[in-house]
Amino acid sequence: MCGIIGYTGKNSALAPLIDGLRKLEYRGYDSAGIALPVEIGQPLYIEKRAGKLKNLEDVLINTPNSTSGIGHTRWATHGGPTDTNAHPHLDNEGKLAVIHNGIIENYVQLRAELEKRGHKFKSETDTESVVHLLSDARKEHNGDLAASMRSVCKQIKGSFTLLAMHSDAPAHIVGARRNSPLVVGIGKGENFLASDVAAFISHTKIALELGQDEVVEITPSSVVVTDLSGQIVNAKQYEISWDASAAERGGFSHFMLKEIYEQPKAIADTLIGRADGLNLNIKFKKFEKIVIIACGTAYNAGLVGKYAIEKWGQIPVDVELASEYRYREPSLNKKTLVIAISQSGETMDTLMALRYAKSKGATILSVCNTNGSTIGRESDSTLYTHAGPEIAVASTKAFATQLIAMYLIGLEIGKKLGHLNKNQVISINEQLTQLPAKVEQVLETVEPLRELTRKFKDAQSILFLGRHVGYPTALEGALKLKELAYMHAEGFAGGELKHGPIALIDKGTPVVAIMPTQDSVLAEKMASNIQEVRARGAVVIAISEFDFAGADHLIRIPNVDLLLQPILSVVPLQVLAYEMAVARGNDVDQPRNLAKSVTVE
Ligand code: G6P
Repeated sequence: MCGIIGYTGKNSALAPLIDGLRKLEYRGYDSAGIALPVEIGQPLYIEKRAGKLKNLEDVLINTPNSTSGIGHTRWATHGGPTDTNAHPHLDNEGKLAVIHNGIIENYVQLRAELEKRGHKFKSETDTESVVHLLSDARKEHNGDLAASMRSVCKQIKGSFTLLAMHSDAPAHIVGARRNSPLVVGIGKGENFLASDVAAFISHTKIALELGQDEVVEITPSSVVVTDLSGQIVNAKQYEISWDASAAERGGFSHFMLKEIYEQPKAIADTLIGRADGLNLNIKFKKFEKIVIIACGTAYNAGLVGKYAIEKWGQIPVDVELASEYRYREPSLNKKTLVIAISQSGETMDTLMALRYAKSKGATILSVCNTNGSTIGRESDSTLYTHAGPEIAVASTKAFATQLIAMYLIGLEIGKKLGHLNKNQVISINEQLTQLPAKVEQVLETVEPLRELTRKFKDAQSILFLGRHVGYPTALEGALKLKELAYMHAEGFAGGELKHGPIALIDKGTPVVAIMPTQDSVLAEKMASNIQEVRARGAVVIAISEFDFAGADHLIRIPNVDLLLQPILSVVPLQVLAYEMAVARGNDVDQPRNLAKSVTVE
């Protein structure tokens, strides 16, 4: 978490910095700050404010002109979200500034040593120890900031992306990374450093990937990457395929709404060119089991993946919360395929679980949306989803494409292991191809949800019920509502209700039920579960592909095979959560306390 941007070039730095921070706010919005060099060798101009970027912008009046600078948007870990704890942090002379994403794990010890050496700390952050360390290192390295950064990286533990600049060399910015993302944007007479390409995509589409423990120096005309021993590294240059407009709201009131409506395209893009196979370079025959690791929404996609892979591929699948996985020393070996699902490709919990699995000899297949991300790079093979940039913190189109990836992997395994015959493969492919149009249909019919939402806006709690793949869909619906509406919401398996959760039902409790397809044996069972809650006073909103008469409100979706249903049934749930957030006056794109890319454990 935390968004980082650095600019050095021929133009005023303020606009690209603020614009970049706006694009990175999804990474955290507890505070924002910038540092600009004004005069060589003089203290840097610095402004930082707790709260959203807007608070910083409001005080940026008469900002001095500068053609370089660094900016930060924070998701607080060490130290509350105050002005003082906001980044950048400065050395005691105010000439050296540092911004950071990640956690410096040995900061307590470092801080004690630095204080003994006379350094004065102002904040409660772990980051501030880096700026003081860097300040001492500069003295040892005759002002060479890159060499100083390399030596500091050897002393600090944990995860970090760091940017630093000193007013003695105002056009020069130094960055470093370990376990947290940093990309270089290469422009004409200007260069960028950022947590994510979205921050500079309106200026350049040429980017450089940085590897683990690498240090980069940029000036307006040069980019130099070294490893921690100072050896030059030939970093890989690539062209960003995303369009700059993809990171804009394009007429929608919120990014989330735009992204909900982009789902048909995202699904179609993820399917393109994959009907004949996935080209994954993985020999599926050797695996005895599959473990899916992921967090949040990606975990829910993994749960759906289990149904598809087990049915079509006939291989046992466990789905694990990445944050729990490695700590219980699970049994896995060379015969295990681990599938790591991560939109950002940077989620620390997922990355750490992946590294653990790798160390035990497992093969890693990742499903990522962000090209060049750490998880993608550290996997044996990656299946990229093509959702485009997802800016709203609550995931929607990325989830839809993760589901598609799960279906494609299930299909591939089914084919490779000989559990699906040619006709079955053709039929599944045909059904997948029809999904974008069917999602489009759902989007055309969600209007009644808007009014319905207003009716339930003050409910104490909303429950979601589903069976089979409807169960993970219910979990995702509840997660969306919690994230956006700040309401108590829970997803349950329909059959499990009677074993406890039914006690939650009271007169008027809204229950959203996802009906299995009419041809499934589960439709009747679900109908009974719905009767059970209605008999106890619940008001039921059913999402169904047929004219189900047993609910108080009905949202119709088109018919698809039961396994594929989450792609359609999740859409009304996303709209419900969106509308509820709007009705309750919440910040839709940046819900409180959350960040989109969680790069701390
Ligand atoms: C955060 C986000 C969630 C997301 C999860 C996993 O918690 O707020 O929306 O599902 O991280 O993110 P990933 O990038 O790994 O898919």
